[in-house]
Amino acid sequence: MTSTSSFLIVANRLPVDRVGDDMWRRSPGGLVTAIAPVLQRREGAWIGWHGAPDERLDPFDHDGMHLIPVPLSRQEVELYYEGFSNATLWPLYHDVVATPVYSRVLWDAYRTVNERFAQAAAEAAAPGAVVWVQDYQLQLVPAMLRRLRPDLRIGFFLHIPFPPGELFQQLPWRREILEGLLGADLVGFQRPGGASNFVRLCRRMLGMSHQKHEIYTEDGRTVRAGAFPISVDFGELDSLVREPHIIARAKEIRAELGEPEQVLLGVDRLDYTKGIGQRLKAFGELLAEGAVKPGEAAFVQIATPSRERVEEYIRLRDSIELQVGRINGEQGELGQQPVQYLHQSYGRDELAALYLAADVMVVTPLRDGMNLVAKEYIACRNDLRGALVLSEFAGAADELRQAFMVNPYDVDGLKRTMLAAMRATPHDLSRRMRSLRRRVATYDVDHWAKEFLTALEA
Ligand code: ADP
Ligand code: F6P
Repeated sequence: MTSTSSFLIVANRLPVDRVGDDMWRRSPGGLVTAIAPVLQRREGAWIGWHGAPDERLDPFDHDGMHLIPVPLSRQEVELYYEGFSNATLWPLYHDVVATPVYSRVLWDAYRTVNERFAQAAAEAAAPGAVVWVQDYQLQLVPAMLRRLRPDLRIGFFLHIPFPPGELFQQLPWRREILEGLLGADLVGFQRPGGASNFVRLCRRMLGMSHQKHEIYTEDGRTVRAGAFPISVDFGELDSLVREPHIIARAKEIRAELGEPEQVLLGVDRLDYTKGIGQRLKAFGELLAEGAVKPGEAAFVQIATPSRERVEEYIRLRDSIELQVGRINGEQGELGQQPVQYLHQSYGRDELAALYLAADVMVVTPLRDGMNLVAKEYIACRNDLRGALVLSEFAGAADELRQAFMVNPYDVDGLKRTMLAAMRATPHDLSRRMRSLRRRVATYDVDHWAKEFLTALEA
C-alpha cells in the first residue's frame, strides 16, 4: 500500500511541468507562487497534473515537496483543460471579457477528470486528513471526494473571481458546479463580493437556507464561505532583492535598456484578462503625442506563454505582437525601441531584478482574482522607490489603496495615471510605498494560509 498524508493540496497543476527526461520547469501562474511555500513549510503532498499529456508518472519529491502526478490524455487536455476550464469557465468568471464556449462534450470531460482527481485524493489521504482543493478547474472535486471519503476535512479556494449571478446563470451546469463546491466545509474566495455571490446563488438556485456566510445543506452539514485574499512570500522577496547579484543585475538591465530616465514594466501571463493591449495603447499614444520622448522611457513587457492552443490566446498573441511592432516601427529609432517585448518565462532572480529596475510597474487587468505581480513588486521595493499603477478591477485593489489606481478601459485615464506615476516626487513615492509594504508584509502568504486552514480546521 502506498503511504498516505494528513495534509493534501489538490490542484490542476503540480508546481513543476515536465519538459523532458528528468527536466522540470516551474509551472506558470499565481497559484503555484502562493501554494508552493505553504507546502514546503508543512508535511504533506500535492496532487496535480505534470503538464505533459499521455504520460503516467510515479509520485516523486521535488524542492522539498512530495508530488503525486495525475495523468491526462491528449484529448482530456483539449476538452477539460483547454476547453471547459479555459474556454468556458475562465472567460465566464472574468466578466465574459471573451465569449465563453458552452459545449456538452467539454462538460463531460470536466466531470470525468474531476472524478479522477477526487479518486487520487481519496487514495492519498490519511484518515481524517485535511484536503485543500484549488481553483476553477476542480470545482466538482469537493462533493465527489466527500462521497468517497466522508471522514475528511475538505477546503476549497477559488483563485479567480466568482462572478455575479447575472453572469453565472448563463452556465448550463450551474447547479452541478454549486453542488460540487458545497461538498467542502469551507469555500474561500479572493474578495468578499465573491463569497456573497456564491451564497446568494446557493439560495436562489438550490433553495438552500443560510445565515450570513453559513449555508445549511440538505444532508445536515454547514458550509462556510469567506474571503481570504491571497498574497506572496514577502520575506523571501525582501531578502532576495538585498543580495548583491540582484542589485547588480538590476543596474545591468537599466544599462542594457540604454539608461532611460524611466523604465516601465509589465509582467503577466499572456492572457486577454490582463489588459496588456490597453497599457501598450496608452504608452504608444504618449509617445506619439510627444508627452514621452523615445529615449526618456522604455516599456518592458514580459509575457509568459500561456494556454497556447486556445483560440482566444492565439488571437491575443497576434494582436499584441502586431501592436508592439507598430509602436516600435512608428516611434523607434535605429538601435532604440521604446517597447521591449519578451514572450518568455523567467526565473525568480531575473524577475526580482526586473522589479528592482522598474520605476513604474504597470498592472492593468480588466478583471483579476488578485494579481500577485503587484504584490511581488511591492515586496521587492525596500528602497521605497518605484510606483505601482494598478487596475481597479484587480482583487489587489481592495488592499493596495496607495497605488496609482486606474480604470484600464479608460485610455486617457491610463495615460494620465502612467504620466503621474512617472512624474511623482520621491517623497510621494516613498510615502505610498511605505504604506503598501506595511500591508503586504503583514498580510503575506503565510498569513493567508494560516487564516484559511485555521478556519477550515476550526
Ligand atoms: P495569474 O495567476 O493569473 O498568472 P498572478 O499575477 O496572480 O496572475 O501570478 C502570476 C505569477 O506568475 C507571479 O508569481 C509572477 O511572478 C509569475 N510570472 C509572471 N510572468 C512570469 C514570467 N515571464 N516568468 C516567470 N514567472 C512569471
Ligand atoms: O489562478 C490562476 C491560474 O489559472 C491557476 O489556476 C493556474 O495554475 C495559473 O493561473 C496558470 O494557468 P495554467 O495552469 O492554465 O497555465
